[in-house]
Amino acid sequence: MPQIDVCLSPELYKLCDQENSIVVVIDILRATSAICTAFEFGVDKVIPVDSVEKAQEYKDKGFLVGAERNGKMLEGFDFGNSPYSYTDPRIKNQPVVITTTNGTRAIELAKNNHMVVIGAFTNISALCEWLADQNKDVLLLCSGWKGRTNLEDSMFAGAVVDRLFEHPTYDESYSDAALAARHLFLLAEEDPQVFLRNSSHRQRLADLNLKEDIKYSLQVDKTEVIPVLRDGELVRLEVEKPSAAKS
Ligand code: MLT
Repeated sequence: MPQIDVCLSPELYKLCDQENSIVVVIDILRATSAICTAFEFGVDKVIPVDSVEKAQEYKDKGFLVGAERNGKMLEGFDFGNSPYSYTDPRIKNQPVVITTTNGTRAIELAKNNHMVVIGAFTNISALCEWLADQNKDVLLLCSGWKGRTNLEDSMFAGAVVDRLFEHPTYDESYSDAALAARHLFLLAEEDPQVFLRNSSHRQRLADLNLKEDIKYSLQVDKTEVIPVLRDGELVRLEVEKPSAAKS
């Protein structure tokens, strides 16, 4: 039976069974929340790159480019990493290139896997419903912060485990990482903002006056889009919905 596992940091990725898994990349604050927002606001595709140099090459060719390091937007680019910047009408039907401190590096790490999708609270129901239909192993890859575990990505991974827990599709045995993430989520569930109060990246973003981004990124179900990586570019996953029963 398929299993759901959690990789709490990109440093642990090589130790996880990922070859046959659907890898869900998670960077709640803020890369994967921003990417889901871009799709909700009509972006054609998102091209993730892992270095500022590559981002600059795209910028020089005339692409719209988002670039963030250490929480700050880099000068000379069009956007940073705030989900709000990806509500900009300029992105509609256009490709957008993005590089971030951790999220795009996690995507790069997983890119050779047969299937990589993007998860955030903003698309959690669509994501979990789709995962439940796949009958495949799932690896929830937390981007963390510079190789270290963070609370918000672990909590989100736990939310996904919780939604799929005891689902008939999945094996009932879970790794300790999956169980720990679920426990975290159950502690956080009532008020995720309060739960994250002392977390490192929440603090970092608060110091940069980005508290609104945190609130935004913790909202559930702002979109039904599941971004999927195809040939190095994120596009909308076409989800087959069961056809409506005839009356
Ligand atoms: C990242 O990719 O490291 C984060 O999204 C950082 C940020 O909040 O901008």
